[in-house]
Amino acid sequence: MLSSFAADFRYINNQKAILYRKNITGVCIMTEENYDSRKIDGRSLSKKVEEQVKQGVDKLNAEKGIVPGLATILVGEDPASKMYVRLKHKACERVGIHAEDHYMPQSTSQEELMERIHELNSREDIHGILLQLPLPKQLDDKAAMLAIDPAKDADGFHAYNMGKLLIGQEGFVPCTPKGVIRALEEYNVPIQGKHAVIVGHSNVVGKPMAAMLVNRNATVSVCHVFTDDLKKFTLDADILVVGTGIKHLIKADMVKEGAVIFDVGITEENGKVYGDVDFDNVVKKASLITPVPGGVGPMTIAILMEHVLMAAMNA
Ligand code: GUN
Repeated sequence: MLSSFAADFRYINNQKAILYRKNITGVCIMTEENYDSRKIDGRSLSKKVEEQVKQGVDKLNAEKGIVPGLATILVGEDPASKMYVRLKHKACERVGIHAEDHYMPQSTSQEELMERIHELNSREDIHGILLQLPLPKQLDDKAAMLAIDPAKDADGFHAYNMGKLLIGQEGFVPCTPKGVIRALEEYNVPIQGKHAVIVGHSNVVGKPMAAMLVNRNATVSVCHVFTDDLKKFTLDADILVVGTGIKHLIKADMVKEGAVIFDVGITEENGKVYGDVDFDNVVKKASLITPVPGGVGPMTIAILMEHVLMAAMNA
């Protein structure tokens, strides 16, 4: 980022940067040749977070002999859920967290699930519990989430932790929106007073994202499937967070020049992964934007690791 206008162009890393545009952080350089500088690199950010977690894990182990433990509960055969759980376990391995996979069959009853949660709540060596969603139809996910000890709620989905978030006491909060906040901080994007527009009002992303941005004094609009004129809102967004699961919902004519954009959506088609934002065209207008894959996803997992360490430190 530059602090002032200087010239029509400048060479940066031997590359001619030819456009200057105002964005919400002031003035930034836009290169036509290479839009890479506008990419929020979720992979390298998550590496940084994971390195900090690893240091914390090593310290806790050296000082108190505690190894943080995460138990994941996966019910059924959903292939995407299986993949997400695998990625979470791999991250645990990288940072030195003990991970247990509690697989339960598709036919699992509510009683069996609740019993497993109670058992994990009472285990001293398990500090974080993650119930992978969605659950098979016969199971009540809200009741199951409520059964998890809020002190072990690594996902931040428990009503107690959600309530705390709403009154500005952020402890265990949903990992994806927390990853967005961390990225905004890392890239020095101001939040206070800015118009943050969220598309999608899920409990996992949209609603907690709104609370986190309000807690930081943004002016927040939450749009969703029933919003009358989506473009009217997205065009005014300084910060745009999109999590709908609708491939390329957000086009270049729907965003403001210089906006900071987070794409939380994932759609798989013929083995390829797409986001909710038409990246190749929107990148030409954004000042910062997350790619899919390699944007918000790795950050979500890194924050989960942070939560397990936090839980173990508080135990
Ligand atoms: N299903 C999709 N995303 C998530 C997540 O972040 N946590 C859990 N528990 N389930 C999910």
